Amino acid sequence: MCGIVGIVGNRPVAPLIVDALKRLEYRGYDSAGVATVEARELDRRRAEGKLVNLEQRLADQPLGGHIGIGHTRWATHGAPVEVNAHPHFSDNVAVVHNGIIENFRELRDELTAQGFSFSSQTDTESVAHLVASGLKAGLSPVEAAHAAIDRLRGAFALAIVFRGEDDLIVGARSGPPLAVGLGDGEMYLGSDAVALAPFTNRIVYLEDGDRAVLRRSGFNLTDADRKAVEREVKISVGSALLADKGNHRHFMLKEIYEQPEVIGHTLSHYVDFNERRLALRDLDGAPAGIDFAKLSRLTITACGTAYLAGMVGKYWFERLARLPVDIDVASEFRYREPPLSKDGMSLFISQSGETADTLAGLSYCRSEGQAIASIVNARESTMARESHSVFPTLAGPEIGVASTKAFTCQLSVLASLAIAAGVQRGYIDQATEERLVSELAEAPRYTNEALHIEEQIEALSHRLAGKKSVLYLGRDTNYPLAMEGALKLKELSYIHAEAYAAGELKHGPIALIDDEMPVVVIAPHDRIFEKTVSNMQEVAARGGQIILITDAKGAAEVGMDEAQVIVMPDVPEIITPIAYSLPIQLLAYHTAVHMGTDVDQPRNLAKSVTVE
Ligand code: AGP
Repeated sequence: MCGIVGIVGNRPVAPLIVDALKRLEYRGYDSAGVATVEARELDRRRAEGKLVNLEQRLADQPLGGHIGIGHTRWATHGAPVEVNAHPHFSDNVAVVHNGIIENFRELRDELTAQGFSFSSQTDTESVAHLVASGLKAGLSPVEAAHAAIDRLRGAFALAIVFRGEDDLIVGARSGPPLAVGLGDGEMYLGSDAVALAPFTNRIVYLEDGDRAVLRRSGFNLTDADRKAVEREVKISVGSALLADKGNHRHFMLKEIYEQPEVIGHTLSHYVDFNERRLALRDLDGAPAGIDFAKLSRLTITACGTAYLAGMVGKYWFERLARLPVDIDVASEFRYREPPLSKDGMSLFISQSGETADTLAGLSYCRSEGQAIASIVNARESTMARESHSVFPTLAGPEIGVASTKAFTCQLSVLASLAIAAGVQRGYIDQATEERLVSELAEAPRYTNEALHIEEQIEALSHRLAGKKSVLYLGRDTNYPLAMEGALKLKELSYIHAEAYAAGELKHGPIALIDDEMPVVVIAPHDRIFEKTVSNMQEVAARGGQIILITDAKGAAEVGMDEAQVIVMPDVPEIITPIAYSLPIQLLAYHTAVHMGTDVDQPRNLAKSVTVE
């Protein structure tokens, strides 16, 4: 959940490091810092808050040097204040770190006993002193770094520089991602390829356990067994341009509006619209080699919004393909260690492809001999590299911390996979496949139409702003959508919200209902619409403030004047979850704008949760 950068260059590196950190700010942004080596001296600048504060600090107190490291932080240990900002120093050593050192207390005690004094509450500072203790013991910088890294337990991506060494950066990866960028007379280290895009597109991804020694002339890698290893140089497609907001006020709104286009891109990767047939392709565009007919069970694991996409997928796989699905949040799954069907497949869903809990779930399933498939947005992520089958979402970089276009693209992939599974398992005939594909083809148009209700939603959002709590209700695939609506509202506006299956309301939660409780009901006019109308009447009878998201038929039949009704276009059932995502995203967005929160980088959050 932090971003790290290192450059051994042939020009002043401080501004370059800050530029690279800007591309990593989505990983965390509560403090930042840079350290450089110049004329054999080691120096640093750090600042609390966003990168703009570090830029100002560097403008006031410039840092020279053609070699350095940088960091943008999401606090795990120690408050997000300057003294805890990276890089962390010890005698002659500076370290930046992404992850969590689990044995840092034991190391801290040991190093304190050796006479090292700690100035921060972070786990990272222990690493700096540990390397320094190796130097004190007479080890070379590289040996001291290796000896220190050998002592660490937990998850870490590290970059280390040394006083007096102006042509050496040591990097290490154990968990969170780390990549080497190959330049001409310069070498780079970064949390991902996007950070290094301004300098190079030649990228080498470190594998778990790898360590890198970078010098201007080149780099060498050793693996977990400390043996020299070569890794493939990949050409990154990471965009060199820092995504911009276009004419939108926030990245999140821009990404909401990108959905019709990126949903279309994503679907076109899985559907042959001319033949009106499914044509599943993997990351490289080759026909996907999955035979759903041979599967007895599908296990889906993910976190947050990606998990909720998986919940929608469960309805689809079970209904369209009669394929039993188990689903769980990765943080529970990884420790529950469930027995898995020997002829089952495990499916992981992740925008970043770096979420620690989801990756841990993947490792468990691999160890159980499962076929591993993943739906990822970051094509060059750890998850993509560790899966047997990779189904990309073509959402493009998602900068807003709250996931929007990645979610609807995940749903688009899941719908395609579920239909393909139904065809392969003999539950969907050709006529039905053609119909479903024709309906999927309309997803971009319907989602575009759904954007036309933004003004109405903005007007409604003031009813949520300032409330203590909001309830979201839905049935069937609208139940996970209600959960996503509640999650969006919580993470963007900091208003408590929770979602219930509408039928569950009468089993307790209805006690919450009063005239201070907005209730958002997601209910297109479908075969269970009347059931949800009954739930709404129960709410209205107790003064609940209903906001109903439905279609024209639902609006005509609901017969409740007191309800505020948002009328969506009439959409085919298979794309309802995709289309109805937009009003719940817009409702959360505009409520957050009303509340004045930081929409693109909400407090306490990070875009990619690469620690437990
Ligand atoms: C989404 O709005 C949230 N910010 C968060 O729940 C996110 O979906 C979750 O952390 C999973 O991330 P991933 O898709 O990158 O694995």
